[in-house]
Amino acid sequence: MICSSISFCNYRNISLETVSFSDGVNVLFGDNAQGKSNILEGIYFFARGRSFRGAREREMIRFGEKQAQLSLSFQKDSAQYPVTLEADLPHTGKKVLRRGGARLSGVREMIGSFRAVLFCPLHLSLVGGGPALRRSFLDIALSQLYPAYLDSLSRYNRILAQRNALIKSGVMGDMAVWEVYARQLAHLGADIAARRCAYMSKLEKYVADIFAGMTEGREAPRLIYQSGALPEDTSDAADIRSAGEERLFAALTGSIEREVRYGATLYGIHKDDISIRLNEREARSYASQGQQRSLALAMKLAEGEMAKTVGGEYPVFLLDDVLSELDGQRREFILRSLTGRQIIVTSCEPAYFDTGAADAVRMLHVQDGAILPS
Ligand SMILES: Nc1ncnc2c1ncn2[C@@H]1O[C@H](COP(=O)(O)OP(=O)(O)OP(=O)(O)O)[C@@H](O)[C@H]1O
Ligand SMILES: [Mg+2]
Repeated sequence: MICSSISFCNYRNISLETVSFSDGVNVLFGDNAQGKSNILEGIYFFARGRSFRGAREREMIRFGEKQAQLSLSFQKDSAQYPVTLEADLPHTGKKVLRRGGARLSGVREMIGSFRAVLFCPLHLSLVGGGPALRRSFLDIALSQLYPAYLDSLSRYNRILAQRNALIKSGVMGDMAVWEVYARQLAHLGADIAARRCAYMSKLEKYVADIFAGMTEGREAPRLIYQSGALPEDTSDAADIRSAGEERLFAALTGSIEREVRYGATLYGIHKDDISIRLNEREARSYASQGQQRSLALAMKLAEGEMAKTVGGEYPVFLLDDVLSELDGQRREFILRSLTGRQIIVTSCEPAYFDTGAADAVRMLHVQDGAILPS
């Protein structure tokens, strides 16, 4: 998959600009606060349906303007013609999304058509940071690949929020109501856990290969999805779902008084985690800072490999500021690993790309929300 170009109108500090990309390495370089990350944020919006910086849509509209507009043109490997995705983000009212000029019903319909893997400095804490980061890694990767996953997750989150609101009200009420919540959460939760578990066991092999290439194969990483929902033996997917559902249902109906005292739902896939191990020891606690970063890097590269396995082609790799966070050896490794794929990188340091490790590199100088003519 190739992102050919993106056009902006009143988006953040970009008043009007079109940026065209080559199908190899593209480097958005320039001083701080010129708009490099804004451009990546715009591209990634079409992969995820929202900002990777957690920003609300209104914040993406250029100060003083009423609406931001984005238009992305991309080409699938198998397709003859490019596809255009557009987004109008108004100050008031709902956003409008279009594909090939036809209006889409919402983000759900857009996600999955344009695929990208984003890698930013936050991801370097994927191994050492909190579990929310690892769950989010899974959720974002799986949502782009399987629309049904996104459906289950959205419904789960909605029902969880309702149940939490009921818990916070402090009223125990009728047991039948709690059972309805428990049944729904258990059913959706078991489906999500089973999908995450299957994804992890496939991802693990890619991570191991990539990590071996990076470190000359001295240690073997293991990645195991850890869920209160899953039975010990996770080899049978159908079994995981039914056993998981019953386990979750029992946990959710058996602890309501405690949850009301605590003020939140204590059991479910919103508490799950990935155990990342090196030589059978938890990497979070035992691995060095450098090893943790290499593992995180390997997980992100593996996310791209998984997208290829499932979707048939590589996604676009978006690297926001990560290269400056890595040492020379890892920087070269990442560029070497991504040869032959499209990458769009932001960097304050154009010199990184003089290494010869990358194919033809397109340098794009960003200044004050515009691309300077080269
Ligand atoms: N809604 C907005 N309207 C106008 N300008 C905005 C808006 N949102 C952010 N900006 C500005 O965009 C500028 C560029 O931000 P961006 O994060 O893209 O910089 P950058 O080139 O990636 O810098 P760095 O190298 O520091 O990461 C910032 O100065 C910010 O004030
Ligand atoms: Mg930036």
